[in-house]
Amino acid sequence: MLWQTFYSLLLLSLLFRCTGDESLPEVTDYEEAPMDKREREALYSAIQGFVGDSWNGSDLYPDPCGWTPIQGVSCDIYNDLWYVTDLSLGLVHENSLACSSSLEIRPQLFELKHLRSLSFFNCFISPIVIEKEEWVNFASKLESLEFRSNPGLIGKLPETIGNLTKLKSLVVLENGFNGELPTSICNVKSLKRMVLAGNLFTGMIPNCFKGLKKLLILDLSWNSLSGTLPSSVGDLVSLLKLDLSNNLVEGNLPQELGSLKNLTLLDLRNNRLSGGLSNNIEKIQSLTELVLSGNPISEDIMGIKWEKMGNLVILDLSSMGLRGEIPIGLTKLKRLRFLGLNNNKLTGLVPSEQLEALPCLGSLYINGNNLTGELGFSRKFYEKIGRRFKASKNPNLCQPFEMVMSESHKHLLPLGVKPCT
Ligand SMILES: *[C@@H]1O[C@H](CO)[C@@H](O)[C@H](O)[C@H]1NC(C)=O
Ligand SMILES: *[C@@H]1O[C@H](CO)[C@@H](O)[C@H](O)[C@H]1NC(C)=O
Ligand SMILES: *[C@@H]1O[C@H](CO)[C@@H](O)[C@H](O)[C@H]1NC(C)=O
Ligand SMILES: *[C@@H]1O[C@H](CO)[C@@H](O)[C@H](O)[C@H]1NC(C)=O
Repeated sequence: MLWQTFYSLLLLSLLFRCTGDESLPEVTDYEEAPMDKREREALYSAIQGFVGDSWNGSDLYPDPCGWTPIQGVSCDIYNDLWYVTDLSLGLVHENSLACSSSLEIRPQLFELKHLRSLSFFNCFISPIVIEKEEWVNFASKLESLEFRSNPGLIGKLPETIGNLTKLKSLVVLENGFNGELPTSICNVKSLKRMVLAGNLFTGMIPNCFKGLKKLLILDLSWNSLSGTLPSSVGDLVSLLKLDLSNNLVEGNLPQELGSLKNLTLLDLRNNRLSGGLSNNIEKIQSLTELVLSGNPISEDIMGIKWEKMGNLVILDLSSMGLRGEIPIGLTKLKRLRFLGLNNNKLTGLVPSEQLEALPCLGSLYINGNNLTGELGFSRKFYEKIGRRFKASKNPNLCQPFEMVMSESHKHLLPLGVKPCT
């Protein structure tokens, strides 16, 4: 019975073969999930290039889009045939396609014409410069391209990435890429996420953002980008998150930042920004996180209308050379959870009661300034905030009295603040 079924199936498939249209791609002869043979060979060869010659795809995975799936490979049907749509290489899971130390990017990779998502995680370890020509083969389909934690990827980012006009997500995170950013990335008008963080990019931030109206996330942090923040960032009208932290960006914040009406995160920490913030920063009223620490701004922060930024949850203004008193406007920010004002040149009294009245405040750093007078926080405040309050290194600041505190909470009194006499 079983044999009969087998033979009739075989016969059937042979019949199909003989009557098939010659112009159709050659397909393998099981009933479901037929795959274009060239596509399958290209997949095997491309993967073998990455994982090494001992990996034999046709042996191990005769039906890669069907009953012998390959970890990291997904497929979809186009014109009744299976094609590869997603390919991830490198160590993601235990049984994922781990890359060989002597890998090669074979041309067959670029024959996978329906590929929508390609990612490499922890794959390129030995130094390799990726050629730019072949990427244009992916121009009409690729929506997501990711290189994550590949220290061996060196040289410039191929400018042909700018030809991938369907790309929605470009993640180039923690690799060894260097040189200038290609301005061609601004041609990718479909981009929603551009993460180029943690590489060795140098040169200016390109002033070419005009077309990127759909971009939601721009993260260029942890590189060595220099020059000023270009005015065309103001054209990124959809932007939610802008992270340029840990670079060498200098000069003023451009007025145009004020046009980013949906921006929730602005992280510019550890750069060389030196121009003032006044009349600029307060225009971005959508911000929930503003981190400007570690920039030589050296401004009197009394000039900023902080009370306008009522959505702020995190505000880090530490190590900026800020002068003036703690602006009372800051104590109007009812959503504030984190306030960092440490290591500046702030003077005057601490508005303790108003700060304590902020309902969500869970971290407050005012250490390393030249604040004066008595701290006026209650015992309850110290019990709540614990060591997330610091006021030390203000030589003229004092703690008014040995508060009545339970023994177990005594240690919560701020360290390094002398008692008032
Ligand atoms: C895979 O193994 C088959 C035999 O099982 C062999 O014919 C084929 O040449 C091998 N392919 C590669 C690429 O090593
Ligand atoms: C890639 O994009 C550049 C710049 O837009 C263009 O000049 C070039 O012709 C494109 N290449 C291909 C193969 O489409
Ligand atoms: C800003 O966000 C709102 C609400 O999420 C949305 O309706 C609007 O289209 C966004 N604006 C832009 C320019 O993307
Ligand atoms: C701190 O402020 C006091 C006045 O309150 C002033 O005499 C002193 O010079 C200031 N110290 C520093 C280091 O600026």
